[in-house]
Amino acid sequence: MLSEKSRPVIAQTLGVVAERIPHITPEFYRSMFEARPDLLDGMFSRANQKNGTQPQALAGSIAMFASHLLNHPDSYPDEVLSRVAHKHASLGLKPEEYPTVHEHLFKAIAADLGDAATPEVVAAWDEVYWLMADALIKLEKGLYASQANDVMFAPYRVVSKDEVADGALAFDLEPADGTPMTPAVAGQYVSVQVTVPDGLRQPRQFTLVPSEPGHRRVVVREDPQGEVTPVLHRDVAVGDVLEVSNPYGDVVLDPDSRAPLVLVSAGIGVTPVLAFLDQLVREDPEREVLVLHADRSEAAWPCREQVREYVSQLPNARLVSWLGTPGEGDHEGRMDVTQVEIPTGAEVFMCGPLSFMQSVRSQLIDAGVPCRAIHYEIFGPDLWMLHDEARAA
Ligand code: HEM
Repeated sequence: MLSEKSRPVIAQTLGVVAERIPHITPEFYRSMFEARPDLLDGMFSRANQKNGTQPQALAGSIAMFASHLLNHPDSYPDEVLSRVAHKHASLGLKPEEYPTVHEHLFKAIAADLGDAATPEVVAAWDEVYWLMADALIKLEKGLYASQANDVMFAPYRVVSKDEVADGALAFDLEPADGTPMTPAVAGQYVSVQVTVPDGLRQPRQFTLVPSEPGHRRVVVREDPQGEVTPVLHRDVAVGDVLEVSNPYGDVVLDPDSRAPLVLVSAGIGVTPVLAFLDQLVREDPEREVLVLHADRSEAAWPCREQVREYVSQLPNARLVSWLGTPGEGDHEGRMDVTQVEIPTGAEVFMCGPLSFMQSVRSQLIDAGVPCRAIHYEIFGPDLWMLHDEARAA
């Protein structure tokens, strides 16, 4: 809980700090990577640094946390903390690194705010930072402790590499040493680390899709502008060994809920849907499920046959598709949820590009679905959550 001393100072300065974040973050990252270039080797995504999304996500989340502390003094924004802790743990972040971010972030804040960064203001924001850092460290410790091993990355051999749609490959991976495997919950991801052409190690997260027991399987769509997916597509061959983390991620089905499910995806966002459908076939086949998918065409839709197969094994499931190519889907063009009946009391899970999820979420809210019942997985730093008061609440 924020101290009585800091509370008014944060209330007074939150507006200006939040507004200055886009100006503070470039300096924060520049100075941190100058002092610690090793953090770009096997920890931070260089691509996210270039496009600026991660710096904003990190610093923005602190302002959002401060806002939550002011509006809800007795609680923490659990959903936000959990997402960040899972992402951090999938990268092997250690508590010792928190002072590094603190040092460079606060240097950048002081430089940007100038005279306005009085000792009182700095002390109040320090408190916010360490409240958030301590909450994250605690969650991350719990996540590490729940793993079957204490290694960050274990070696996995590529057993097969199959095309599952235009531009999308499925990699089947088996352990290449005796490291015990943590069982994954449907919807979770792993970090896969590769060495990019200039020698830097770069981890990225990929959702686990159904695989045979004792294997891990991921589906990767090539982003020609990306650093990691072209390496996986072009340079990694069957028989090669990849570094793979334990499974993390908190966008999973509630084991106690029997509510109807609506699984919404676009493009490669189908991967968590595959994992959920597989779980439902095994554990809850009678569940009412509506699967909604949008894609450019049938050929671009990853694992389309597998989705259909799962739906056919679930007597109360239905699949509706929107495809950009005439005649191939149930509907043509963009997803429009007014074209289907959303089951009353449904829990919704969404995964796909941010603009797609924003549009579908508005449509669902218009259709009467409470925003609390809408869960989503974003591939990449989550800038949405930070601007979404409903999620911070
Ligand atoms: C990701 C917040 C400390 C490394 C993130 C994200 C947020 C965040 C909001 C984006 C999560 C997502 O949506 O995917 C924070 C906060 C911190 C903190 C509030 C301190 C209180 C640290 C530290 C490090 C670190 C100490 C390491 C030195 C990373 C990395 C990512 C990340 C590597 C993944 C994204 C990427 O590579 O672009 N953090 N973080 N964070 N954070 Fe932190």
